[in-house]
Amino acid sequence: MRASISDIEKAAGVLRAGGLVAFPTETVYGLGANAEDPVAVARIFQVKRRPPSHPLIVHIGGAEHLDEWVADVPATARLLAEHCWPGPLTLVLRRDRRVPLEATGGLETVAVRVPDHPLALGLLSAFGGGLTAPSANRFGSVSPTTANHVRAELGDEVDFVLDGGPCEVGIESTIVDATGETPSILRPGGVTREDLETVLGRSLAVHSTSRVRVPGQHPSHYAPRARVVLVEPEKVVAEAEFAQELGHRVGVFVPSSFAEAPVKVHAVVAVPGSMAAYARGLYGFLRELDQAGCDLIVASLPVEEGLGLAIANRLRRAAGPRPS
Ligand code: TXA
Ligand code: MG
Repeated sequence: MRASISDIEKAAGVLRAGGLVAFPTETVYGLGANAEDPVAVARIFQVKRRPPSHPLIVHIGGAEHLDEWVADVPATARLLAEHCWPGPLTLVLRRDRRVPLEATGGLETVAVRVPDHPLALGLLSAFGGGLTAPSANRFGSVSPTTANHVRAELGDEVDFVLDGGPCEVGIESTIVDATGETPSILRPGGVTREDLETVLGRSLAVHSTSRVRVPGQHPSHYAPRARVVLVEPEKVVAEAEFAQELGHRVGVFVPSSFAEAPVKVHAVVAVPGSMAAYARGLYGFLRELDQAGCDLIVASLPVEEGLGLAIANRLRRAAGPRPS
């Protein structure tokens, strides 16, 4: 059942009492806690089974509150905030002392964003402060894009779930390090590199492969249970059928340009031709193939422009080495 105004009030009360509330954003569902309550923040790490050194994003109700959470706002950061918020952009800036080190994984910087979702904004306004919220899934697994994904994965370890239906964007926010003179992308996401470059009038480097700069980006993040194998688009069908013949229970992401013939495998996802629809569906598709009992997923990377950059990033990570 979709959340109502009284649910928002209840959820804000749970947060004030130090509890955890899962709430929808335009990207994925977040697992929120009062950003200024180190005990509540610590519980997020417990519920997610996430190492405490992995920094969280502080969600705030509007760009006008940014200065309350960071030590200073460079001109480029101000420009990006004004153009992109509310929206799927996260800015990494120098932390104000108001932000506890528990929320930043001990870093002197903090990640901040204004989510573009009426329930998230309603919750932030009713609560009146900032909310640290990682994606509401267990560490390393696929992010939730519906309230049912959250309930299925976290159960009653969450004190309250605000149901806002399926998320519109479907993949996480773009993270930009805006601490220095030259901003760079630490994680591609819902705002495209091209859009950011248009706002800034300059090109942006992507540093998402650097594990030093972005703790919390293990190569196997966003991984379903099934192993993920990436091949060239024109080989997807043949490789999938071959693996099925070898005895795997194969799920396949069939690229839209190869979608005519039936594929002889365990489960098939027809990849949408539009990158926005692909991003919106991506995590649901991975969950669907897990639920169908697949042990191997064969997919290919989209062209890495627009939202294709973020989709390719998530698929690579899903296919990355698993912690043993
Ligand atoms: O769309 C999103 O961003 C979602 C929704 C719920 O807002 N949140 C999300 O949070 O994806 P999470 O915790 O799953 O990912 C946060 C990312 C991590 O990769 C972390 O390393 C990075 O943000 N991060 C947080 N603080 C940082 C900092 N100070 N410096 C560099 N990276 C940081
Ligand atoms: Mg996450």
